[in-house]
Amino acid sequence: MHLLLTIAAIYTASLAATLQSYPSATDVNPFLGKEYYANSEYAAKLDQTIAAFNAKNDGLNAARARSVKNIGTFVWITSVSSISVITSTVEEARAIQEKTGKPQIVELVLYDLPNRDCSGGHSGGEFDLTNNGLALYKSEFIDPYAKALEAAPDLTFAVILEPDSLGNLITNQEIPYCQAASPGYEEGLAYAIAKLQLPNVALYLDAAHGGWLGWDDNLGPAAAQFAKVVALAKNFTSKDAPVPKIRGFSTDVSNFNPYIANPRATYTEYSNSYDELHYAESLAPYLTNKSLPAHFIIDQGRSGLQNTRTDWGEWCNVAAGFGIRPITQTNSSLVDSIVWAKPGGESDGACGPMAQGKAAPSAGAWFEEYVENLVIYADPPLEPTYL
Ligand SMILES: *[C@@H]1O[C@H](CO)[C@@H](O)[C@H](O)[C@H]1NC(C)=O
Ligand SMILES: *[C@@H]1O[C@H](CO)[C@@H](O)[C@H](O)[C@H]1NC(C)=O
Ligand SMILES: *[C@@H]1O[C@H](CO)[C@@H](O)[C@H](O)[C@H]1NC(C)=O
Repeated sequence: MHLLLTIAAIYTASLAATLQSYPSATDVNPFLGKEYYANSEYAAKLDQTIAAFNAKNDGLNAARARSVKNIGTFVWITSVSSISVITSTVEEARAIQEKTGKPQIVELVLYDLPNRDCSGGHSGGEFDLTNNGLALYKSEFIDPYAKALEAAPDLTFAVILEPDSLGNLITNQEIPYCQAASPGYEEGLAYAIAKLQLPNVALYLDAAHGGWLGWDDNLGPAAAQFAKVVALAKNFTSKDAPVPKIRGFSTDVSNFNPYIANPRATYTEYSNSYDELHYAESLAPYLTNKSLPAHFIIDQGRSGLQNTRTDWGEWCNVAAGFGIRPITQTNSSLVDSIVWAKPGGESDGACGPMAQGKAAPSAGAWFEEYVENLVIYADPPLEPTYL
C-alpha cells in the first residue's frame, strides 16, 4: 500500500514535470496519448438502462449498455450553478489519473451565452442581453470557469465553446432574437477565448455541422465570423500577452451526421459537405486563408444509425444509434479526434419522433427508451461488458 502510494506520488511529480515542458495544447493534438475520461455521473444514468434490458431478459444489450459507461463523453457546463461540476469532475479525473498512471483528457462543453439558443428556444439559458446578461456571463460564468481549469494544471482539457451560437449568427439573422444576440455572442465568446488561454486547455469553437454551415455559400462567411471572434479575444488580454489562440473547431455537436456517409443521404444532394469529413475538408481552406487552425473534433455520439431522416434540418431526438467511439485514429490530418459530445440519452427537447412508443421529455431530461435504441442500433455495434 505504502509502496503504491509512493510510486503514484513519483509518477504524479514526473507527469507534472513533463507537462511543464510540453508544447501547449494549442500546438499539438491534445488527445494524443490521453485516455478519454469517462465521468461517473453519466455512467450512473446508464444503470437504469442496464436494469431495463435485464428486465426484458436481454443480457446482450445490458452488457453493451455497461460498455457505454466507460466511453468518454463530454460534461456539459450550462449554468453558473453547474460550475461546481467542473471541480467534482476534476477531482474524479485526477484520482483516475493518479491511480492508473494514464493521463486523462477531460472533455467539457461551455454553454451559457446570453440569449442562448436564439433560434430554437428549447435550450434557452439563464442570461439575457437586455438584463445585463453579457456582464454576468463574464463575471459569474467565464471567470470562475477559467479559475476552475487553472486550478488543475495536471489535467488536459478539451473545451467546446458554445455549440450552435456562431451558426446562428451566420445564418439566422432574420430571427430578431438572434440579431439582438449577435454582439453579445461575439464579445462573450471572445472573452471566453481570452480567459481560457491556459497551457493545458484546448479550445474548440463550435462550427455547427455540414448541413448548416457546410453549404458553399456559407463557408466564406463562417470563416470570416470565426476569425472576427478569435481576433476580438485580443481585446480581453493584457497588452503584452500572447495573441489568444484556439486549437480548432467542433462539428456535429448534438447532431446526427455521419463522419463518412455510406451511402450519402438523398437530402445532401447539392452539398459538397454531405458528411462531416467532407465538411471539415470544405471548410479547411477558408479557415487557413483566415489564419485559423484547421483542426476538428467531430461528435459521433448519436451518428450510428444513418438515413432515418427525410430532411437534413431534423435535429430533435432523431432515431439513432451510438456511433464511432472516441478515437484519434481518424484517417484525416484535419481531425484531432472523433468524440462523443452529446450525452446519449439526454433529450433534445419535447419534440421529434417517439422511441419505443414514448414521446420525448423536455431538453436535458433522461429519455430512457431513446438510449435503449442508441444501444440496440449502435454502429459499429458495442462490445458487451459482462461482469
Ligand atoms: C476591441 O479593440 C479595438 C481596438 O482597440 C476597438 O476598436 C474595438 O472597439 C474593441 N471592441 C470591443 C467589442 O471591445
Ligand atoms: C482567400 O483569401 C483571398 C484574399 O482575401 C481571396 O481572394 C480568396 O478567395 C480566399 N480563398 C478562400 C478559399 O477563402
Ligand atoms: C480508418 O481506416 C481504417 C482502415 O480502413 C478503418 O478500419 C477505420 O474505421 C477508419 N477510421 C475511421 C474513424 O473512420
